[in-house]
Amino acid sequence: MTSPTDSPEAAAALQTRLLRDLEPVVAENLERHLKATQAWNPHDYVPWSEGKDFAYLGGTDWEPGDSRLDPVARTSMVVNLLTEDNLPSYHREISTSFGRDGAWGQWVGHWTAEEGRHGIALRDYLVVTRGTDPVELERLRMEHMAAGYDQGDKPMLQTLAYVSFQELATRVSHRNTGRATGCPVAEGLLARVAKDENLHMVFYRNLLAAAFDQAPDETMEAVRNEVMSFAMPGAGMPGFARSSMMIAKAGIYDLKLHHDDVLMPVLRFWKVFERTDLGPRGEAARLEMAQFLEKLDEQATRFVTRREEAEARRAARAAG
Ligand SMILES: [Fe+2]
Ligand SMILES: [Fe+2]
Repeated sequence: MTSPTDSPEAAAALQTRLLRDLEPVVAENLERHLKATQAWNPHDYVPWSEGKDFAYLGGTDWEPGDSRLDPVARTSMVVNLLTEDNLPSYHREISTSFGRDGAWGQWVGHWTAEEGRHGIALRDYLVVTRGTDPVELERLRMEHMAAGYDQGDKPMLQTLAYVSFQELATRVSHRNTGRATGCPVAEGLLARVAKDENLHMVFYRNLLAAAFDQAPDETMEAVRNEVMSFAMPGAGMPGFARSSMMIAKAGIYDLKLHHDDVLMPVLRFWKVFERTDLGPRGEAARLEMAQFLEKLDEQATRFVTRREEAEARRAARAAG
């Protein structure tokens, strides 16, 4: 990523100005969000009648045969839950980036409370239905949360770009995980969570759209930087490379979905490819990003082709 960078003083002044000038947009979108969102209770989505005591209270501990979930869907649900579990770190990152005052602070608080439901609901479902080993789940949670999530020193505009993409990525991942579980209760729960993630995406996407109008070049550079370095929030968890490969092979979340269903719809909403308000810096950033996206799409399409070929070979072997 090559771009002429502002001096630290100029970058800090822009950030302060944008935080102030975007605050009415935050207030407006918070109000819109509160009207659009429906209150829901995590306990409604959990089949409590399936619950049984564990050995500590005189029952039996988890055994692999207890889980009725498809193994890949189970892996994906655990990855999604551990990702949700790191909420304290995300709260710290966005409250550092956006601040705790005024409408920004109200949003940060409300968003955090909504996100808190996701981990509660997913964990309750998995433990009650014995969908996964609760001892292993707790060990992974301890390890993952103790490591925490750190976005580094991303400027505020890049944080806004990141959360716009990341909320949509989690929406796609929850929804497709739900479909892959083969359990209507899990599918209903994950569809409910996915709806929240979509509304979060809309909020951040609208804010970044307003930032584009106020500082087109700097916003374009921030979007370019984020598109070219995006990593899922759970990327640091134990075994992520292996889990994400399983998830990609099952088509729950892969590079093609990332390109087609996450990056492109948001970039189109920002009219990134049609903007006429960019100066030389913005134009250069847009060009670099477009070239990156083209390569990403080629790589993603190759992966899907190879996956389809492997599936066809498996089907042929099974038939023969
Ligand atoms: Fe969430
Ligand atoms: Fe979210």
